[in-house]
Amino acid sequence: MNSINIALLGLGTVGSGVKNILHDNRELIEKRLFNKTRKNVKINIGKILVKNLSKHKDIDKDIITDDFNDIINDDSINIVVELIGGKDIATNYILESLKRKKHVVSANKMAIAYNGEKIGLCAKENNVAFMYEASVAGTIPVIRVIEDSLTANNIYKVSGIINGTTNYILTKMTKEDLSFDEALLQAQNLGFAEADPTSDIDGFDAMYKIAILSNLAYNVNVNLDNIERITLKNITADDIKNAKAKNHVIKYIAESEFDNGKLSLRVGPKEIPLSDPLAFVDNATNAVYLYCDKAGRILLEGQGAGSEPTASAVIGDILNIIERRF
Ligand SMILES: NC(=O)c1ccc[n+]([C@@H]2O[C@H](COP(=O)([O-])OP(=O)(O)OC[C@H]3O[C@@H](n4cnc5c(N)ncnc54)[C@H](OP(=O)(O)O)[C@@H]3O)[C@@H](O)[C@H]2O)c1
Repeated sequence: MNSINIALLGLGTVGSGVKNILHDNRELIEKRLFNKTRKNVKINIGKILVKNLSKHKDIDKDIITDDFNDIINDDSINIVVELIGGKDIATNYILESLKRKKHVVSANKMAIAYNGEKIGLCAKENNVAFMYEASVAGTIPVIRVIEDSLTANNIYKVSGIINGTTNYILTKMTKEDLSFDEALLQAQNLGFAEADPTSDIDGFDAMYKIAILSNLAYNVNVNLDNIERITLKNITADDIKNAKAKNHVIKYIAESEFDNGKLSLRVGPKEIPLSDPLAFVDNATNAVYLYCDKAGRILLEGQGAGSEPTASAVIGDILNIIERRF
């Protein structure tokens, strides 16, 4: 029996989802791993890093810690799973883990949008894996599709709905005639939107994600300052009504195009005709189009966030590393 020890950095929405799925579906996961590797592999959560220990009194004291050194200095940890969020501390923890030859999985769009190139290089130099499927569009395997399934294609355009909060607000404004403020409050009460919704409403979240997808799709390194970013908060009931009169709906669209070496990127509200399937992607659902020279247009749709949908993508990466590296 091979034992793989993982460390979770963060036990919030996504970290708890990872812990729950590894518990609930352990038998299924281990059986699938056996079918693929012909090895009996057991996945243990060896350590969990949190900020505030007093919030996590139910976790075994040998496992929970608020000191990253307990993780980095533990030679039994094979895979570090970064789920704390934010840019600088998370980037440092990812880089330190890679330098100690630990594979890393992350769901952190911000750290990856800013520092993905540096992190990727560090992983290569240390001959370990860095995977980040959950950082864009939650459970939708869009990174896997770009990196693996479409290797034979030039991808020339990526577009879609990749922020659940703005899509939820626009759905409520369109279908239930709520005002922007009413729809935002509802999204916050239901846990779709953060207490501080700036990152979603002003397009930072979508900007990080379209940068990550564009880097992969076109083999570039996007400068975030070059992304046109338009807030949702100026959209009014009249804008929604005017769009409806033209058989259009307003959606918060992230899009990028790569044409003859020229890259353009934009996130913001946009009118979409009802003939486009994106017009029917509602609430917190995400959907991404990939336009390819050989495969044509592909549309991927699914849950863009949430504890277990996001954790499902994180665990997919963990299993991929185990299959390829152990
Ligand atoms: N939530 C989603 O649906 C979703 C979807 C896709 C991607 N993501 C990404 O997944 C990551 C995690 O998001 P989340 O929603 O799970 O966040 P969250 O609920 O706020 O949880 C964050 C966790 O990290 C811990 N933490 C924060 N700062 C820390 C630090 N400096 N040192 C040690 N521990 C620290 C917190 O500890 P305490 O528990 O002690 O406070 C908490 O357990 C983010 O990068 C986010 O962008 C989230």
